[in-house]
Amino acid sequence: MPRYLTSPQASRFYDHFGAKQDHQGYYEDAPLADLAAHLRFEQARHVFEYGCGTGRYAAQLLAEHIPETTTYAACDLSRTMIELAGRTLAPFGGRVVLWQNGEVPDFLPGKPPFDVILSSYVLDLLSPEAISEMLAESARSLRSGGQLGLVSLTHGSSFASRITSRIWALLAHLRPSLVGGCRPLRLVDFLDPDIWRVSYRKTIIRWTIPSEVLIATRL
Ligand SMILES: C[S@@+](CC[C@H](N)C(=O)[O-])C[C@H]1O[C@@H](n2cnc3c(N)ncnc32)[C@H](O)[C@@H]1O
Repeated sequence: MPRYLTSPQASRFYDHFGAKQDHQGYYEDAPLADLAAHLRFEQARHVFEYGCGTGRYAAQLLAEHIPETTTYAACDLSRTMIELAGRTLAPFGGRVVLWQNGEVPDFLPGKPPFDVILSSYVLDLLSPEAISEMLAESARSLRSGGQLGLVSLTHGSSFASRITSRIWALLAHLRPSLVGGCRPLRLVDFLDPDIWRVSYRKTIIRWTIPSEVLIATRL
């Protein structure tokens, strides 16, 4: 049985990890670039990110993909991450709203529905119950036809990536804090086909570490 970090444990881990998160680019950058290339940002007016980390990906999206008139809102469990993201995204001024969320997903209630919701390398550290809550909140907060874009660690598909993902899963089971609580999973297994239509799905392997990129449309 996999074990998960509790929200207070995850918050403490990422408060401490802080800017070191940006050193994961050697396996995260290619899947993140693939997600950015396949989301329809040009038609979006309101974008939301769940678990924005240091804001490094958001800065890239705002500079290169998200139209200048589009707003970007994001939350993160870690106070340190929100502070770092605030500094990284300051050049984008009033288009950006950031806040620290609590244990439950918190998607800026009272705002118009979002056109795009994204989350990278966050669902893979949540318990199955918390993943379902996050997806239910995404379904409530996205307009019909809006896109959910996800990236997560996943299971290997080649010999080397299978070994890496098995070792990773074992570490996550024995000592979740060693790997930031993250473990390989199959995102598609969590999506209810009555609510979501998967429009894009790809596994990208860098340095033998496999990531799943998935885009689903809210029906
Ligand atoms: C592995 S980092 C990924 C950060 C960023 N999305 C990226 O791709 O670089 C995981 C992030 O999720 C945040 N996080 C963990 N649990 C969360 C939760 N329940 N709600 C919101 N954010 C959470 C952490 O604080 C951390 O910033």
